[in-house]
Amino acid sequence: MKVSTVFLLVATSIVLLSTSASAKNIICYFASWTVYRPGNGKFDIEDIDTSLCTHIMFGFIGITTEGRISILDGWESNDDGLRGFSRLVDLTKVNPNLKVLVSMGGWNEGSEKYSIVAADPAKRKVLIDEVIQFLGEHNFHGFDLDWEYPALRNGSDIDPANYVELLKELKAALSPKGYLLSAAVSGGVANADIAYDIPVVSELLDLINVMVYDFHGAFESFVGHTSPLSASSKDDAGNATLNVKAGIQHWIDKGADPAKMHLGVGTYGRSFTLADPNNAELYAPVLGGGIAGPYTRQEGVLGYNEICELHSDWTYIWDDEQQVPHRVSGDQWVGYDDEKSIALKVEYANEKELGGIMVWSFDNDDFRGICGSETYPLMRTIKRTLK
Ligand SMILES: *[C@@H]1O[C@H](CO)[C@@H](O)[C@H](O)[C@H]1NC(C)=O
Ligand SMILES: *[C@@H]1O[C@H](CO)[C@@H](O)[C@H](O)[C@H]1NC(C)=O
Repeated sequence: MKVSTVFLLVATSIVLLSTSASAKNIICYFASWTVYRPGNGKFDIEDIDTSLCTHIMFGFIGITTEGRISILDGWESNDDGLRGFSRLVDLTKVNPNLKVLVSMGGWNEGSEKYSIVAADPAKRKVLIDEVIQFLGEHNFHGFDLDWEYPALRNGSDIDPANYVELLKELKAALSPKGYLLSAAVSGGVANADIAYDIPVVSELLDLINVMVYDFHGAFESFVGHTSPLSASSKDDAGNATLNVKAGIQHWIDKGADPAKMHLGVGTYGRSFTLADPNNAELYAPVLGGGIAGPYTRQEGVLGYNEICELHSDWTYIWDDEQQVPHRVSGDQWVGYDDEKSIALKVEYANEKELGGIMVWSFDNDDFRGICGSETYPLMRTIKRTLK
């Protein structure tokens, strides 16, 4: 009797241990277009270190207004060209515990087509049938929906209800086959309130990836950090919730299950050209985005690798309130995340007992290890800090 009780206790604690050990996820996005970048910026599937993630998302496939899957980059994705889908799934041979999902949507896809499909039961069925067939054909482990965002960006008022219908039907089709259902969701408090019935969405999803970044950028007329951990004493009512803690806490307060939530971390910065180089304060006026980098090639954005390779001579300033760094040189200002700020974000995720971290994306980390002694300094920081 005693012996079996002891055995039972041991057995129970082993189960608990293994559950908690496997419960923390690092969900990494692969952005397929990064393969076309020049020089050291070129990133391909073989550059992925599979030991740094538990899940990899292929970004992105698209949708048609009829609910069909549209292949956004046939050359990169398809078996006729670079065979991106099958090479990504093949990474599970290197790390058998890895889950590989396909992600549909993203910022450039807009919201309107998703709104049209979600509103029509027949089109939802077309989509779900295609998704099931697609996952089977390419051996993905699940489906990630990155509709940015229901009821916003030319969406419709009835999107939040239709989004729930779509998720319900997806779950009913995916779960019996063992496929995961995931979504990337807005971490902006105002957007989240418009777009999601949070408790229902949380119930239906296996993985909730909260995009707590892009809070500020060259789409505004003043300096702001893309992903501050905390508020600033300079915030007014309009921007006091545009930070990581406010976004994550809002999802929890509205009824999301923290264990399903993943705090989104960006490996890039958002940059500005200052209106007056002598005023580089938070919320100082700007003329527009900062000068484009050689890899990301977009004004207003710089990868962490571009910052550390090319701009390590820019003045480094740590913001004690917002707990993030920025760099300044002349009229150029870039706010970004480094090892220090990412470690603080991961500690916050630990404290909130979240499911883990989501990373957008592999290709902007120093994946070649050019700046320091190791490859992937940001992703390694996540792995080391996540408890
Ligand atoms: C919304 O629709 C208008 C009119 O068709 C278009 O000009 C605009 O680009 C659309 N915005 C988005 C975010 O799709
Ligand atoms: C954020 O705060 C600054 C400084 O008070 C202000 O200029 C700006 O308009 C605010 N932004 C929003 C979105 O409210």
